Amino acid sequence: MTQTRGFEPPPYPYDRLDVLRKAADALPGGAVDLSIGTPYDAPPRAVVEALGSSGTERGYPPSVGTPAFRAAAAAWLERRFGAAVPPDHLAACMGTKEFVAGVPHWLRLRTPDRDTVLYPRISYPSYAMGATLAGCRAVPYAALDDVDPGDAERALCVWVNSPANPTGGLDDLPAAAAWGRAHGAPVLSDECYIEFTWAGPGRTIVAAGLDGVLAVHSLSKRSNLAGARAGFYAGDPELVHYLSEVRKHAGFMVPGPVQAAAVAAFDDDRHVDEQRSRYQRRLALMIDALTAVGVDCPAPDGAFYLWAPAPGGDAWGLAHILAAVGGAVVAPGELYGEAGRDHVRIAVVQPDDRLELVARRLRDAGDVPDAPRAAD
Ligand SMILES: Cc1ncc(COP(=O)(O)O)c(C=O)c1O
Repeated sequence: MTQTRGFEPPPYPYDRLDVLRKAADALPGGAVDLSIGTPYDAPPRAVVEALGSSGTERGYPPSVGTPAFRAAAAAWLERRFGAAVPPDHLAACMGTKEFVAGVPHWLRLRTPDRDTVLYPRISYPSYAMGATLAGCRAVPYAALDDVDPGDAERALCVWVNSPANPTGGLDDLPAAAAWGRAHGAPVLSDECYIEFTWAGPGRTIVAAGLDGVLAVHSLSKRSNLAGARAGFYAGDPELVHYLSEVRKHAGFMVPGPVQAAAVAAFDDDRHVDEQRSRYQRRLALMIDALTAVGVDCPAPDGAFYLWAPAPGGDAWGLAHILAAVGGAVVAPGELYGEAGRDHVRIAVVQPDDRLELVARRLRDAGDVPDAPRAAD
């Protein structure tokens, strides 16, 4: 095989946690994995039934989404968040990670004189990876107003994420849209946690107009459908048209049965309200449990993560203690950017009895000793 000197994929972030998994697994009752934000609870029965009864598996599904899929997604945006987006100004994607990681490449083909992807400095790693895969510059920002004018001029797109993974923070979306319009850069608003907004109602960027913005949505978190892979992007008509044409050429398609299931999921709000209660209960339970190890963790404004400050800023140290004493696998904050290195992220995705087990272990340990540390 020829030796190449090009791109080498870095270790996948969560593969770095094996050492924590091993320590947590050694406890009676085993590890409680709170590292990846993968849903545990069941989707509604009607959604699962739709997967097997739509009769759509024989033919190719429309890449842009079936008329029923697009209508259901648009109706959901309007019903839950008061945003009126015509169904032909939104298009399907296979969950959102592939879209997040692919969109800089497609935008660059259209705007070759811009080469910079701006993204929040503590954020979901795929924003930066998408820039890398497109051969673009990945430039983190603390606040849009502080972006270097040279970087703003080169901006191919700007990511915002509200509610945010991992911090749970909420953005001023109309201000972000205005910034993007002023700088000629599309604002891509990742809103996959919108249903789990705790401070006030859920907010979408498309409520402030479609021009120059895309809202990116997923059923993975809303409806516990991460395994089915359904999402959509909505907003600026020209941008949606361009991206959906490119994606059609490239063969991106949400499978027909999944599109049928997505319609059933978008049409139902009751399961979301139940899931909201579950996550709120679990967030409170884990905030309480963390006090046993001297961690005073704030409640998030949204999403289902705790962003916990590590005592002394030692995030790997706290992660080792939570694994060895509580049996919980959590994610050190550096996985979400250098600026997050003094926090850990705890995803409260596991069932209540597993979280209670972690809480009990931490409480029973009393004064938590220094956990034995393997090399990070
Ligand atoms: C902020 C954010 N965006 C996008 C995704 C991707 O989710 P999916 O591809 O399942 O839609 C995730 C998943 O954890 C996420 O946290």
